[in-house]
Amino acid sequence: MWRRLVSLSPLLSSSKSRLINQAYGFNACQLFSTQVLNGAEDGVSGTRRKPFITFVLGGPGSGKGTQCTRIVNAFGFTHLSVGDLLRKEIYSNSENGSMILDTIKEGKIVPSEVTVKLIKNAIEASQNNRILVDGFPRSEENRIAYERVVRAEPDIVLFFDCPEEEMVKRVLNRNQGRIDDNIDTVKERLAVFAELNLPVIKYYSEKGKLHKIDGTGSEDEIFERVLPVFAALRNYPTADFVLFKFLVTRPSVYYMITWVP
Ligand code: C5P
Ligand code: MG
Repeated sequence: MWRRLVSLSPLLSSSKSRLINQAYGFNACQLFSTQVLNGAEDGVSGTRRKPFITFVLGGPGSGKGTQCTRIVNAFGFTHLSVGDLLRKEIYSNSENGSMILDTIKEGKIVPSEVTVKLIKNAIEASQNNRILVDGFPRSEENRIAYERVVRAEPDIVLFFDCPEEEMVKRVLNRNQGRIDDNIDTVKERLAVFAELNLPVIKYYSEKGKLHKIDGTGSEDEIFERVLPVFAALRNYPTADFVLFKFLVTRPSVYYMITWVP
């Protein structure tokens, strides 16, 4: 434990986090210090703490992917785009490839067992304990399957709220060569969003996990609204964080920690 506390110090000095610290008066990396992997230093190589999972929701073109990139850069998360995981399956000639392609073309939802397996594998393969799962869960079925298989809930959920006309405009202008970025599929995706995704959003809202972000305006304006969500997490009361605070407020213990050879 002591060694882990000492080993955090290099994390706290990156130039990116210094900028965020200056702007927001806190240490971005420190927010998630309780979620750092147990490394070989602790003699438990291969085991890891429960990752801090953020689900990122919003309709097609609401800015999920763009804002995830900004969160990755500012807070060191790993970004798992579930749409991208599914698209990779299509091109890797997996047994589900053609079913996934057809489902995406129609703007429908891929069966949860396929999607949840991909997410679980990607979380396990990641060395990072701060993870953004972008575009999931798209339905109550998705959500329940995740809870059953991963046996965990997300720590927080971001929802980018954006009017339909704006989302349609963005999708049709983004030109990323996606087979589902055409007006017919977009209409279907919007209908699926309203019917299947909004109930999930309501569920997390009732659980107090939802952070609704106004998804209109420029990338920078939207990111300004995202930052306070992560700033608020500095008081996230995990057991390790409480212990950490307890230790560092006692000078004699702190002295011992900093002088561990
Ligand atoms: O999130 P993104 O817009 O990249 O998703 C593209 C498509 O991937 C969706 O319209 C849907 O067909 C499929 N998808 C899914 N289940 C998810 C996420 C995406 O079926 N959880
Ligand atoms: Mg996306």
